[in-house]
Amino acid sequence: MDVTKESERNMKSGRKTVLITGGSGGIGMELGKLFAAADYQLVVVSMPGENLEPVRDVLQSVNPFINIFLLEKDLSRPGAATEVHDFTRSHDITVDVLVNCAGFGTYGHVNEIDIEKELSMLQLHVGTLYHLTRLYLREMIERDEGQVINMSSISAFQPNPHFATYGASKSFVLNFSRALNYELRERGSKVRVMAVCPTAVKGTGFQAAARMERARAFNSWMATTPAVVAHDTFRAMQRGKDVVIPGKGLGLGQALVSLLPASWQMRIARSQLREMAQQ
Ligand SMILES: NC(=O)c1ccc[n+]([C@@H]2O[C@H](COP(=O)([O-])OP(=O)(O)OC[C@H]3O[C@@H](n4cnc5c(N)ncnc54)[C@H](OP(=O)(O)O)[C@@H]3O)[C@@H](O)[C@H]2O)c1
Repeated sequence: MDVTKESERNMKSGRKTVLITGGSGGIGMELGKLFAAADYQLVVVSMPGENLEPVRDVLQSVNPFINIFLLEKDLSRPGAATEVHDFTRSHDITVDVLVNCAGFGTYGHVNEIDIEKELSMLQLHVGTLYHLTRLYLREMIERDEGQVINMSSISAFQPNPHFATYGASKSFVLNFSRALNYELRERGSKVRVMAVCPTAVKGTGFQAAARMERARAFNSWMATTPAVVAHDTFRAMQRGKDVVIPGKGLGLGQALVSLLPASWQMRIARSQLREMAQQ
């Protein structure tokens, strides 16, 4: 791809641009399709080594008129956010919507999980998400326009035994996003930050990557799909929400659970993560 030509077309078209981390599959890809259908140009950032061309084909089939930039970057490396920002700046791409969606889970007893894997996850969910938000937020505030969508999780709302580090990292995402959005509103800014808190989502790469094939949550009535998560996220963005729990009635369910004492909430979370007997 001639990126220079692409960015010239991008500037001329007057279309808005969304940058989606983890846009190569799962929820990120479904969100990409919705933004493509809404005539946004896309910058898709995902792990090096993956062939991203099929991603372009899928997105281009939704909307053949938009430009799609593909960027391979391991976002669990410190410094990756600056490199992504340098890429968009050097190609004159104004990011109107930043979607921090890249992520993975680590499941089991904390002391038995590979420490390097958890450190990478923390860097990805906390360090890089924070850094990308800071870099693009400054420009959005200057323009007084823009949206950040941060992918959190239902596990952000309480401690999660056997999903302890993952859940805690998603609590950071939720609380950071909400507080930031409050600050922006308080200052009269039109920039918005929204946290997305899905329940278990079936049919993405997440479950296998986290080795949660048998976790009950994915077979529960509360489990949802990437298409539903993307649809409800997009709608919540349009409505200016600060938090969304995708799926019918699941927000109400979480509101009721949040009335329980913390020890009960933790027990419910633990039971959702318990492994089902093998059939
Ligand atoms: N599935 C669920 O049950 C669930 C529930 C709540 C929240 N979430 C959150 O939703 C987000 C998307 O998950 P998903 O379910 O769509 O899973 P997924 O299909 O595995 O998608 C994860 C995406 O993140 C990318 N990614 C992972 N590590 C990366 C890294 N170091 N650098 C750059 N990109 C990286 C992956 O790229 P590669 O494919 O190239 O590795 C992939 O595009 C995650 O933040 C996850 O925590 C998921």
